[in-house]
Amino acid sequence: MFDSFEELEKELENCNKCKLCKNRNNIVLGCGNKNAKVMFIGEGPGADEDAQGIPFVGKAGKLMDQAFKGVGINREDVYIANIVKCRPPMNRNPEQDEVNACLDYLRSQVMIVKPEIIVLLGSVALKAILGKDYSITASRGKWIEKKGIKYMPTFHPAALLRDETKKISFWKDLKEVKKYM
Ligand code: URA
Ligand code: SF4
Repeated sequence: MFDSFEELEKELENCNKCKLCKNRNNIVLGCGNKNAKVMFIGEGPGADEDAQGIPFVGKAGKLMDQAFKGVGINREDVYIANIVKCRPPMNRNPEQDEVNACLDYLRSQVMIVKPEIIVLLGSVALKAILGKDYSITASRGKWIEKKGIKYMPTFHPAALLRDETKKISFWKDLKEVKKYM
């Protein structure tokens, strides 16, 4: 575990704890307010994130920004991170060994930021954080409280690009989160 972002960044710099280190251009640790009340957790960097080293700056990120704007959430007020910090090839889902190797970094991020609320974006984040028994269809939109943190599972914004009808639920879930901000 790491006690500060400085320590975390130093440790991460040359991380080769899993095979995702081979093809990355940039490690994507996270961005936003390091004292945020609300933290968003996605899956892993895509091509744009890998190129820029910042989470959610591609198509899915732009859609998330639009939704943030719509419900009155400022991107600068929240903290945004991913389950894995290096881009999986062809944007495939991260594999279990990669998730296991990377999860300590996220745990440290959560310990340092100390969010009251964590929004889990999609199935990969939900299962990695709360366990394999959770499904996004059954859990989305419902608060789950564990160890003093309130979790809100919702769709991954990339899922909204594939299926527009999911936008309504996504916005609804963000509005629910906004109530506590
Ligand atoms: N999808 C994710 O899960 N995370 C990102 O940072 C970008 C796209
Ligand atoms: Fe290290 Fe995580 Fe990147 Fe794997 S994905 S190399 S564990 S930073």
